[in-house]
Amino acid sequence: MAAADISELQTIEHDVLVIGAGGAGLRAAIECAAQGVNTGLVCKSLLGKAHTVMAEGGMAAAMGNVDSRDNWKVHFRDTMRGGKFLNNWRMAELHAKEAPERVRELEEWGAVFDRTKQGLISQRNFGGHRYPRLAHVGDRTGLELIRTLQDHGVHQGIQVHMECTVLDLLKDGDRVVGALAYWRDTGRFVLFKAKAVVLATGGAGKAWRVTSNSWEYSGDGLAMAYLAGAELMDLEFTQFHPTGMVWPPSVRGTLVTEGVRGDGGILKNKDGKRFMFDYIPERFAAETADTEEEANRWLKGDKAARRPPELLTRDVVARAINAEVKAGRGSEHGGVYLDIASRVPAEIIRKKLPSMYHQFKELAEVDITAQPMEVGPTLHYFMGGIRVDADSQMTTVPGLFAAGECAAGLHGANRLGGNSLSDLIVFGKRAGAGACEFAAKAGQGAIDEAQVHASMRRATDFLNRESGVNPFVVQEKLQEMMSHNVGIIRTKAELETAIEKLKELDAEAATAKAHATSQYNAGWHTALDLRNLLLSSEAVTKAALTREESRGAHTRDDFPGERDEWVKYNIIIKRGQGGEMIVEKRERPAGPAPLVEIANSKIEDLESGKVAADYK
Ligand code: FUM
Repeated sequence: MAAADISELQTIEHDVLVIGAGGAGLRAAIECAAQGVNTGLVCKSLLGKAHTVMAEGGMAAAMGNVDSRDNWKVHFRDTMRGGKFLNNWRMAELHAKEAPERVRELEEWGAVFDRTKQGLISQRNFGGHRYPRLAHVGDRTGLELIRTLQDHGVHQGIQVHMECTVLDLLKDGDRVVGALAYWRDTGRFVLFKAKAVVLATGGAGKAWRVTSNSWEYSGDGLAMAYLAGAELMDLEFTQFHPTGMVWPPSVRGTLVTEGVRGDGGILKNKDGKRFMFDYIPERFAAETADTEEEANRWLKGDKAARRPPELLTRDVVARAINAEVKAGRGSEHGGVYLDIASRVPAEIIRKKLPSMYHQFKELAEVDITAQPMEVGPTLHYFMGGIRVDADSQMTTVPGLFAAGECAAGLHGANRLGGNSLSDLIVFGKRAGAGACEFAAKAGQGAIDEAQVHASMRRATDFLNRESGVNPFVVQEKLQEMMSHNVGIIRTKAELETAIEKLKELDAEAATAKAHATSQYNAGWHTALDLRNLLLSSEAVTKAALTREESRGAHTRDDFPGERDEWVKYNIIIKRGQGGEMIVEKRERPAGPAPLVEIANSKIEDLESGKVAADYK
């Protein structure tokens, strides 16, 4: 059990502490270690088990290996259009420019990418990407990325602290100087001192019932940053990946990679109709096939053909599936059918999508080379997160950095598939560099005992009270409530109900009781996660209520369509002096003229060099 006196606490000192060991955290830690900085990497679970592995289909980088017309400007344009122009301009530029170099670096470090016939890194099609752009390793790309970074990082001397959950960030004045954490196996507290801290903790998908996220994704970084005084941004944009498994119930939400559609899979309703042709938004009409014949030409490799509607952006496809199911045209278990069997030879399916083949065989007893899959939307990703500086990734709190899913900006209102893995490696490296630079100038700060005590007391209260509610029950109620009131389609009334229910759940969570001791106590861990899940849910709900339009992944039934005035604003969430949550509609800086020109250009003009030719 926990030590009561802070001088008795196990204390570990690093120059830079990275919290979270997915792609962004690992890449940040590698950068720090490469700069000779003493680096610690804290990981809530075991090393190698991160949501990064759920980006299965690939990482987007304009390498032009499969279609030489691709370049950073087209990737940038696709990202801005996919994000409905709410993206941070500078981040979208840096990402598109730097992703190819980061991918090649992974190859040098041992990542075994699939190859073209010419021996180049192969790239596949994905929703919203103009050209085949996703460097991939079958349908296990995230896993290979993690494996490569992990091997490289460990050999660089990063100190890894596994099965360790951070409870709170610690501050000296304005600045972050460390964190209090506990070991999940023993329940003992550990104090980390650091000159700079990088958060790479992912999103809070576990606040929804149907999600591709695993148990770790409880919004820890979002909540800790918010409580430490950082600003959060764009949280209304929560991505529902169109294709999660819907059957059997035990695996509902498990991801079915977009690679299935990228490699030729099509969506059908229960009547066998290929319904996506009915859902092509006007903005994409000129670029999307509107007949089966045109879509089939594309599948046969005709570069002049327009792309099939299954490869529209995720927000569009998820809403279309939702509408089909609501209209009573869904599949047996409440999804739709995803058919690749009738379009692609069995041996190619097994070669290009081995995990999908095994996943459906083992979990659903479905042979995807012979039968369609049943799929439906699953909460997959947070576009919003902690507000950061585009170049350094520093948050609004000195010494605190954020990268990957927990940071906001790059993806705007909707992320393109494959842009997350490239995000992790581009901005993970930048966050590491930013943290090293900060650490080089700052000494170790002073640890405030009162903050440590308060954090320990909050944690041990769940164990020490005589009675209280079951934390698992509170989490289940939260998941039901968020799925019902803050889902794909939102209304004012539902969002207001959610805010009321969150207050009730907050009160319940505060009285949760974790039975037994602090050792291997999953109930205690859940009780501790609840604060973060609830805070993240409140921020999402309040941001969603504030944005009175529909844009990207945020759809308001009572405010249909994009409204021009809203592209000028981000919704910022921050903590007031009295601890209240402040929601602010903040004007965004205008984009630099050449970038605006690229994002708005016609693709022909961009390709012919008519647009921003001098902008490198
Ligand atoms: O569908 C997928 O493979 C997921 C990719 C991503 O979220 O980037």
